[in-house]
Amino acid sequence: MRTIEWKNNKIKIIDQTKLPGKLEYLYIKDLETLWHAIRELKVRGAPALGAAAALGIYLGVKDTDKKNFKDFAALIDKTAKYIASSRPTARNLFWGIERMASVAVRNKEKPMSAIKKLMFREAEIIIEEDREACRKIGDFGSVLLKSGDSVLTVCNAGILATIDYGTALGVIYRAHEKGKKIKVFACETRPLLQGARLTTWELKKKGIDVTLICDNMAASLMREGKIDKVITGADRIASNGDSANKIGTYGLAILAKYHKIPFYVAAPMSTFDTEISTGKDIPIEQRPREEVTELFFKKPIAARGVKVYNPAFDVTPHELITAIITEKGIINP
Ligand code: MRU
Repeated sequence: MRTIEWKNNKIKIIDQTKLPGKLEYLYIKDLETLWHAIRELKVRGAPALGAAAALGIYLGVKDTDKKNFKDFAALIDKTAKYIASSRPTARNLFWGIERMASVAVRNKEKPMSAIKKLMFREAEIIIEEDREACRKIGDFGSVLLKSGDSVLTVCNAGILATIDYGTALGVIYRAHEKGKKIKVFACETRPLLQGARLTTWELKKKGIDVTLICDNMAASLMREGKIDKVITGADRIASNGDSANKIGTYGLAILAKYHKIPFYVAAPMSTFDTEISTGKDIPIEQRPREEVTELFFKKPIAARGVKVYNPAFDVTPHELITAIITEKGIINP
């Protein structure tokens, strides 16, 4: 199963808003549809957004008849700005854009048709690299898990958040492949329920023992000794290790510290933002109020007109993180 790929001259994605009810694919042939797919979380998760951005830049330039590099570069810039305006937090989205733009600049002496080919190749490389990186994260991270462990996770940092394997869930998949018996507790992840809808769906498909809990149950489970480790993904990691991830992750890290449970972050290098020194500089996305007041946009569950605060991410300070698992190895404090 692939979350995102280039197929029939279009970007093919799994429409994640339809899961777990239906496994439905979308074929995207214009930038506006891609922008909305990203904004509305049809495609989501930091590494998948890196691939979406890369393919999006190619989509934006592939049919242009611009004859000189100056005009071609201006089109790349316009496309990049548009895609970058879809969601602000995941570093991978900007990293994907930057990689595509720099291939063009490096080859600016070549004919536009050759540059387009190289840009398409770069998007393919980005996709291949993610597949490999996730498996390496799995290799490194699986050493930290022992048979019989119960692992708590939040949001979805699995196949659906990457190309086809996952970061936090990649660690669990690899441990499972090695024959370790791992039990997973998945936080449902209010307000958009990525844990309930996506994580439980893909873990069940992979035959992993998974139990769904409401977000506010995590503390009790830890006190009862039901959680051995916490592993989450990340959307952006600052130079000092502060890590942004789905709202609620910071709370889990505090709970883990209090209960002396290791708290791991699993993420590829493309999630690191070395331009910023601490998590204070990570832009946090604010999302529409309806995500909180209406159960998945369908049914009112709050007083009409109530004020809502809906940040999509929070930042876990590095001192609460036991280690960061990357494709290059495990980063200890
Ligand atoms: O709002 P989302 O669903 O895009 O948030 C995703 C997360 O918070 C993931 O944990 C993160 O992107 C890491 S995915 C490997």
